[in-house]
Amino acid sequence: MTTTDNNLPQKEKAKVLAAKKTLEDFVFDDFIVGIGTGSTIKYFIKALSELVVQDELEIITVPSSFETHLELARSGLSISTLVEFPELDTYVDSADIVTSDYVLLKGGGGALTMEKIMAKAAKEFIVVIDNSKYPKDLLSHPVPIEILPLAVNTVVEPIYNLGGEFKLRYGKGKIGPVISDNGNIIGDVYFKQQYNPKEIERNLNNIPGVIENGIFTLDIHRLIIGHPDSVEIIDQPSSHSKKEL
Ligand code: 5RP
Repeated sequence: MTTTDNNLPQKEKAKVLAAKKTLEDFVFDDFIVGIGTGSTIKYFIKALSELVVQDELEIITVPSSFETHLELARSGLSISTLVEFPELDTYVDSADIVTSDYVLLKGGGGALTMEKIMAKAAKEFIVVIDNSKYPKDLLSHPVPIEILPLAVNTVVEPIYNLGGEFKLRYGKGKIGPVISDNGNIIGDVYFKQQYNPKEIERNLNNIPGVIENGIFTLDIHRLIIGHPDSVEIIDQPSSHSKKEL
């Protein structure tokens, strides 16, 4: 921790510690590193850019969103895409929540589609969170969803038939719903009753016009949990899952 980091609120300290530990233990020279989106990942990018200069590392980054692309460019890191590197050595990202069975809800920042593609394209998917996000119940957070604009009303009923209520997401600084980096609509699906995450992940994606949803039931290779003064690492969390999803 630097002196500046020491002045951060507890939750931010936890994110910084987890991001730095991930970098120290799991990112190596010559790696192609996929970079997620969000406030936790901003700390990771800062630490990565400092380490690359200090240790003269040859690391190529692949951003999961336009915001991350901007942040990587500002930090002077080498940037590429999945077109050049369809297989990543590692993909580092955070999540909105992690359940006790290691299911993630992602897409609070609206970048879920690219994030899922990158998590799948990586040899290792590393999830970095602060301890307020784990363990959390699936119903504690809505399911982010990306929809083709002209399907925005046709998806409502099929989503309702799966037990969910679709709501458009509104942000600040623009009139109208949040638009993804891919030019689609971002919304959220609210469930009131417990659901099977694997089934709902698949069934939401089967609705015509749904591009992707923020339920991630794929394998996580490491879960890095930051506390204000320490870091917990769970290796191969998916294999410890109590439930057959
Ligand atoms: C963006 C995401 C982020 O990983 C998630 O929203 C967590 O962000 P933060 O680190 O700011 O809490 O899924 O689409």
